[in-house]
Amino acid sequence: MFVYPIVLSQTKFTHRDNLRYPFEERGLQFGDGIYEVIRIYNGTYYLLEEHIDRLFRSAKAIKLELPFTKDEITNLLLELLKRNKMTSDGKTYLQATRGSAPRDHVFPVNVESNIYAYTQDLPRKHDNLEKGVSAITRHDSRWDYCYIKSLNLLPNVLAKQEAKENGCYEAIFHKDGQVTECSSSNVYLVKDGKIHTHPATSGILHGCVRMQVEKFAADLSIPFVENGFSLDDITTADELFLSSSTSEIMPIVSVDGTSVGNGKPGDVTQKLQECYEKDANIITHTV
Ligand SMILES: Cc1ncc(COP(=O)(O)O)c(C=O)c1O
Repeated sequence: MFVYPIVLSQTKFTHRDNLRYPFEERGLQFGDGIYEVIRIYNGTYYLLEEHIDRLFRSAKAIKLELPFTKDEITNLLLELLKRNKMTSDGKTYLQATRGSAPRDHVFPVNVESNIYAYTQDLPRKHDNLEKGVSAITRHDSRWDYCYIKSLNLLPNVLAKQEAKENGCYEAIFHKDGQVTECSSSNVYLVKDGKIHTHPATSGILHGCVRMQVEKFAADLSIPFVENGFSLDDITTADELFLSSSTSEIMPIVSVDGTSVGNGKPGDVTQKLQECYEKDANIITHTV
């Protein structure tokens, strides 16, 4: 199909070849792609294999053929750190889309996936990890396949923005009062020494750190109950915390302006944080 060469870019007309970003790209036009965010401590990836496994699960779910094997992409991501002489705490963002092709909902034929990955510094959020953060609650308006780490993040973006505008760190999603997860993290409630969280169904992202939380809980002999919890349960919770690769295991001490438990990070959360630091080989500096 013929595409005319002059395009509107911002408020100026230009030749399509001069655009600053790819022209017909399925990630940009349809959100037709997947991604991963991988944590780095002291220049070393944490949970790299788990992230690569999830990338391949997401690819399979959206019928995207990746042009590499798990070993190949693992080596490429390791090489990325080496070439950047990366030795600090940071993250790598990796994205794969269904490629560049004339805009059509139907999958393009013989089109290569567009892949990119980049690394940036990301210091640990010491203050938040120590003191805890606040959250708002919002209706979970996302689709049925949240286990796919897809580029379609508009509901997540809007919720996170609302959290920020309310002076909060996160937005807790719920469906009819049943908590699913947060806009960019998994969420857990502690009551009477047990950890409750939404089951790993297609309704939430199966967080790599969530997997570790389950392991740490087993190590600490703390029951990890995947029966979910409600907004009402939060009002009588002992503790609430979230987990993600960039936020680690972070206490939530206030929800919609009301304190959770005694309003301070709880014992269970702090024990899990210790397990996390050990597991990720984080060197903590005590003064
Ligand atoms: C919606 C959502 N849930 C959970 C998570 C946590 O996943 P992970 O622990 O793999 O970082 C993320 C991470 O970005 C997320 O976006």
